[in-house]
Amino acid sequence: MSDVTTQHATERADFQATSDPALLESADRGESQLLDYHQLYELWERQQWRTQDLDFSQDRVDWHERIPPDERYARMYGLSSFFVGEQRVAEELGPMMRACPQEDMRIFLCTQIADEARHVAFFDRFYAEVGVLEAGDLRGRLEETSQHLNPEFEELFDQALRDRVDRLGRDPGDLETLVEAVTIYHMVIEGMLALTGQHFIIEYNEEQGTLPAFVEGFLKVARDEHRHVAFGARFLRDMSQRDPRYTEAIQRAMADALPLAEGVLRPKWIPEEQPDDVEIFGTTIAETREFAAKALGRRLKVIGLVATA
Ligand SMILES: [Fe+2]
Ligand SMILES: [Fe+2]
Repeated sequence: MSDVTTQHATERADFQATSDPALLESADRGESQLLDYHQLYELWERQQWRTQDLDFSQDRVDWHERIPPDERYARMYGLSSFFVGEQRVAEELGPMMRACPQEDMRIFLCTQIADEARHVAFFDRFYAEVGVLEAGDLRGRLEETSQHLNPEFEELFDQALRDRVDRLGRDPGDLETLVEAVTIYHMVIEGMLALTGQHFIIEYNEEQGTLPAFVEGFLKVARDEHRHVAFGARFLRDMSQRDPRYTEAIQRAMADALPLAEGVLRPKWIPEEQPDDVEIFGTTIAETREFAAKALGRRLKVIGLVATA
């Protein structure tokens, strides 16, 4: 049995150690405890884990025998956006890493590339061991899960983020575009969407007593994401202190990405006319929105910007 259920994960010392402002009340007062790039690298060395260590046998029983078919479908939606999302972001990090202006930033982003690969491997292993999908290999599983995504997801990943990363690939010296890409990647996709979804999915499984190995692994993924977001906050703060052009770049990227993020938080299988206060898995859309906005607000305060969401 893991130690994860005894305490709320975000209060654990290893989560707090990431210095993600969303986890720290001091961020409400605008106080910054952010680690520097080398400290973030060292934390990565201390926070290693292996997808091979997870035993999904109870998860398999839960999925097929305890979770009803209609609930399995709804759960599939939430999980597929993570699986496909992890694979998409892993592909975009290379050009972002190369465009970073300092060696210690590049080294940290190399560790993040390894993390995102491990997150894809985690989901792939969960799907394979639990028998969630029909497809027999990684490519097939990615295709099968892609059907559950909504149009805003594609716009956010395949246009807003990819267009900027493509520009960086052609011109690695374009720091304004790098700032925009980090804003979309680290603040919106990881900070607002991934960590919000993870929080409520983990909480629901813990309450229901379902999918123990998935929860154990997903908590490790979440801890990695907090470390990534802490890098993003540090980078955006440093850049915006360097030149107001970069502060404007953050605002520009936010204005583009926030409406798309709203859409991603509203699953495709929920009818448009359904009000935001209807509960799904014990949580309303309004609550997820509020959680994401609070996290963003804390991070923006520490970066030195006023919250816009
Ligand atoms: Fe990830
Ligand atoms: Fe990440």
